[in-house]
Amino acid sequence: MQPCVIGIDVGTGGTRVLIADSSGRLLASATEEHAPFASPQIGWAEQHPDDWWRAAQLAIRRALQQSAVRAEQVACVGFSGQMHGAVLLDAADQVVRPALIWCDVRTQSQCDELNRSVGSARIIQLTCNPALTNFTLTKLLWVREKEPENWARVRSVLLPKDYVRFRLTGEKAIDVADASGTLMLDVARRQWSSELLQAAKIDRALLPSLFESPEVCGQITAKAAEATGLKLGTPVVAGAGDQAAGATGMGIVSPGAVSATIGTSGVVFAATDRPALDPHGRLHTFCHAIPGRWHVMGVTQAAGLSLRWFRDQFGTRDTGKTQDPYELLTAEATRVPAGSDGLLWAPYLMGERTPHLDPDARAALVGITASLTRAHVVRAILEGVAFSLKDTFTIFEEMRVPVKRIRLGGGGARSELWRQIQADIYGHEVEIVEAEEGAAYGAALLAGVGAGIWPSVDVACATSVRVAKTIHPIAKNVDSLRSSYHAYRRVYPALKSIFSEQTNVRSTS
Ligand code: XUL
Repeated sequence: MQPCVIGIDVGTGGTRVLIADSSGRLLASATEEHAPFASPQIGWAEQHPDDWWRAAQLAIRRALQQSAVRAEQVACVGFSGQMHGAVLLDAADQVVRPALIWCDVRTQSQCDELNRSVGSARIIQLTCNPALTNFTLTKLLWVREKEPENWARVRSVLLPKDYVRFRLTGEKAIDVADASGTLMLDVARRQWSSELLQAAKIDRALLPSLFESPEVCGQITAKAAEATGLKLGTPVVAGAGDQAAGATGMGIVSPGAVSATIGTSGVVFAATDRPALDPHGRLHTFCHAIPGRWHVMGVTQAAGLSLRWFRDQFGTRDTGKTQDPYELLTAEATRVPAGSDGLLWAPYLMGERTPHLDPDARAALVGITASLTRAHVVRAILEGVAFSLKDTFTIFEEMRVPVKRIRLGGGGARSELWRQIQADIYGHEVEIVEAEEGAAYGAALLAGVGAGIWPSVDVACATSVRVAKTIHPIAKNVDSLRSSYHAYRRVYPALKSIFSEQTNVRSTS
């Protein structure tokens, strides 16, 4: 009986379940969409954890059916998921309120208060990261301050994928990679930071147990087996946040290897053998999914989201169902020259993390003239997102983080035009891997290590991850895009005061 592994990725748009065999070959996958996140006020983003559990059950069942894999063949299940969200459970393990998710940026005043009470430099010393609105701790502090009646009921805090794990196994567990994005982990020592917890007055007992990503931390319960078709007692590993899991799935496991992934958000991710710190806090320094390794990453809040927003608001909805609306838009954009005839897109639709750390930043389209077309706007969006990712490469250079190989992931790896734009803007060849299956694939590889199919994450990647294609930069585009990048870098400083004024106007009106 050939053993298989399952990876479950609890994303923002949906939950994806993937089954792979012991050579890392994909056997089946199924995705179940989530309800779109609710944004009752600007900068707020909430999802209901029960919707993730609904989607996970359906997707697991469908993937098993599609693959014709028998439940007994599943040696282990791994998890990955959207990071930073706060799932709050009461004494009966019921969800107290909808989860505040990763892109919710309502917590600036809680960040300011943390910086005042603990000290911003001390926070970086303790956790390797600054207080950012995205991070889980700030969401806990917001609920404690603004909704004391909800907070009084909270007995445990979980991250999104860990809630799905809890429903499958009854265990409250988390891996060090996902825990790194809570602002409560001592990332250098890979343990909860008692000093920070004490300073923020958060009881350690609210938090789940910590594991390394490939460690087994529970088994499928009888109830979950019935709900999903999995076998009672199937082991599960801790897994990792979507970025560390996605990087693992692309073989980004040792220094020199870097990925650039464009999903809803965009991330440039480098594996490191030390917790490399950006003293300005512009990059996240987190534990990797590999014991004894770390990673640094820069995050663009609205990468794929930029194109989706444009498609939803200005794209052609009715494509006669023969062509994907994204393909239609990018096909138009291929006719526009590199540099979009001077049009620039600053992608700050949901504020920005790297490099500005500014939840009040707003998107901007700069340089419109009457002769420009919709195609120019699309190309400018693709370029603007890549410029924003390039900002992280610029910081890597400052920090001497080595970049030897760049692999592309997500939607930005699937579009031929976006691949070429990235190679041209990074000024470096980029690789596409064969099984570009995202974070669920990394979660499946971690499950394989937990089940003993592979002795280590390095071996799992060496066996399973293969390069399908290399894209080389086009010299003349590299030159013209270099000057566009210099212009792009000046957009945010020029508009910053307008963004904060506008935010003040809104909050006082
Ligand atoms: C990483 C991040 C996103 C979310 C959503 O820091 O915020 O990647 O995990 O996918």
